[in-house]
Amino acid sequence: MTTALLKDSYGRAIRDLRVSVTDRCNFRCFYCLPHGEPPAGPKDSMLTYEEIEFAVSVFVSLGVEKVRLTGGEPMLRRDIETLVAKLARVEGIRDLALTTNAFNLAERAAGLKAAGLDRVTVSLDSLRPEAFREMAGVDMLGRVLEGIRAAERVGLTPIKINAVIVRGHNEEEVAEMAAFAREHALSMRFIEYMPLDSGHGWSREAVVSGAEIRARINERFLLVAKRIERGSETATRYRFADGAPGEVGIIAPVTEPFCGACSRIRLTADGQIRTCLFSKVEHSLRDVIRSGASRAGVADYICGVALKKEPRHYINETFFEQPARTMSLIGG
Ligand code: 5AD
Ligand code: SF4
Repeated sequence: MTTALLKDSYGRAIRDLRVSVTDRCNFRCFYCLPHGEPPAGPKDSMLTYEEIEFAVSVFVSLGVEKVRLTGGEPMLRRDIETLVAKLARVEGIRDLALTTNAFNLAERAAGLKAAGLDRVTVSLDSLRPEAFREMAGVDMLGRVLEGIRAAERVGLTPIKINAVIVRGHNEEEVAEMAAFAREHALSMRFIEYMPLDSGHGWSREAVVSGAEIRARINERFLLVAKRIERGSETATRYRFADGAPGEVGIIAPVTEPFCGACSRIRLTADGQIRTCLFSKVEHSLRDVIRSGASRAGVADYICGVALKKEPRHYINETFFEQPARTMSLIGG
């Protein structure tokens, strides 16, 4: 562990960097990007792989230990394995992960593993073809399941599955998804719907609370909270009381905010640092890097930006406003 610590002004250490590599996605999840991505900016607005590698190495020298590649759909960025291989060589990363919708994971899992990726998180909101299509806007459940199996086979593990639970869509299905976690010995994470959708269709009524999700699963499989230090983890984690493999994680940013322990910072595909999912301002690391700043200069800039990290989100306040850039442009 490095001693130079990236800290915000509330004393939270920044340990976890999410790097979005593209704004594009080939799914149309209604809670994220229902109408597709906005027109792309000029090509040179995107960070190159070399620039991402440089930026990540500076973050890591400041104490970041976990790096996650996201998007958009990161597999749509050409030859993402090259970037994975570069990052796998950065000394000090304890955990290198990638979040994907898994549309082509079946073909790419082995290559990603060989490039040095530790594990994947797969977004999957339903195991029922009809509900899947209705939520993701594409008919790809079969492909996604193949992708998960391939990831298992090549050891991109522990695999996490993210399911956003939305009232009227998939709340009836959570126990079935918990059964899937048991069957495949994976971590099934249920996420409350956040106001980060580009269609601005979010409403409080559509949020299924973590408490309700827990209760619905408990009716079928008794859950026991894991006695582990939660630290900055977003999920409360449970094991199955009967000793079955797999685990359940519940991520409840709306009804049980966990901002006090947040250790996350984000870099968008066009090189902007976001200190919170709900930030109203961004900080152009791209401009700093392209101005020819030294490694020390970039490090100083990042430290200054970290001090501006917001204390928390205000989803539950009457004055709350959705950020202009939504999930697919921020990097979940
Ligand atoms: N609310 C909660 N989670 C979301 N994601 C995307 N949009 C939302 C939203 N509005 C999650 C998806 C994906 C991750 C990157 O972000 O589950 O797995
Ligand atoms: Fe961290 Fe912002 Fe998410 Fe709260 S809302 S957990 S501060 S990123």
